[in-house]
Amino acid sequence: MRGAELVWPTRNEAQPNREGVAAGGATYIFIVLIVDFYFYIFPTFAMKISAILAVGKGGEIGLNGGLPWRSKDDMQHFKNLTSEHCILMGMNTYNSIGRPLPKRTNIVITSKNIQLEGCHVFHSVEDGIKFAESQNENELFIIGGLSIYKYCQEKGLLDRIYLTKFEY
Ligand SMILES: NC(=O)c1ccc[n+]([C@@H]2O[C@H](COP(=O)([O-])OP(=O)(O)OC[C@H]3O[C@@H](n4cnc5c(N)ncnc54)[C@H](OP(=O)(O)O)[C@@H]3O)[C@@H](O)[C@H]2O)c1
Repeated sequence: MRGAELVWPTRNEAQPNREGVAAGGATYIFIVLIVDFYFYIFPTFAMKISAILAVGKGGEIGLNGGLPWRSKDDMQHFKNLTSEHCILMGMNTYNSIGRPLPKRTNIVITSKNIQLEGCHVFHSVEDGIKFAESQNENELFIIGGLSIYKYCQEKGLLDRIYLTKFEY
């Protein structure tokens, strides 16, 4: 999982004397104030990267290039979550959908030099993510397929996973 890790410096070095501690404390407070002020003037936010997927009882997510199930509820759930957001998918998933999904910014990852109408095509997941960030997106949805989910998982890119389990 992604996530900032706060690491405090270890204190192996000799302890500073009293003046050193006082001076260090004042410098620390000063730096904190400057940083706070900077973020107050220039607010920033980190984009969340979320995977959304459905799995069957055996852990399967696809069948013959499509989905093994049809569920209006799950499609509605998918639509509710992803509408008005950037969605990132692999080329096979794009082909299985067959068109860009409306009301979403469609990002397609392929090694090929192609253009897809209504989509933003990139040659790497990282470039797709950078593009979503450049759109001031607050939550990018990784919508599959298997190779893209695996890649994002292995690279620790995911902040959140929306998982639907099918008992069909
Ligand atoms: N259950 C679910 O929630 C769910 C969701 C989505 C999809 N699916 C299913 O998953 C299946 C598709 O999965 P999949 O793994 O076969 O295909 P995929 O991940 O959708 O697409 C794979 C293709 O994307 C491109 N690609 C992937 N990683 C890349 C990278 N790092 N750099 C450049 N290009 C990259 C390549 O395209 P090129 O060959 O063009 O270079 C690759 O062949 C389908 O059955 C679909 O229905 C299920």
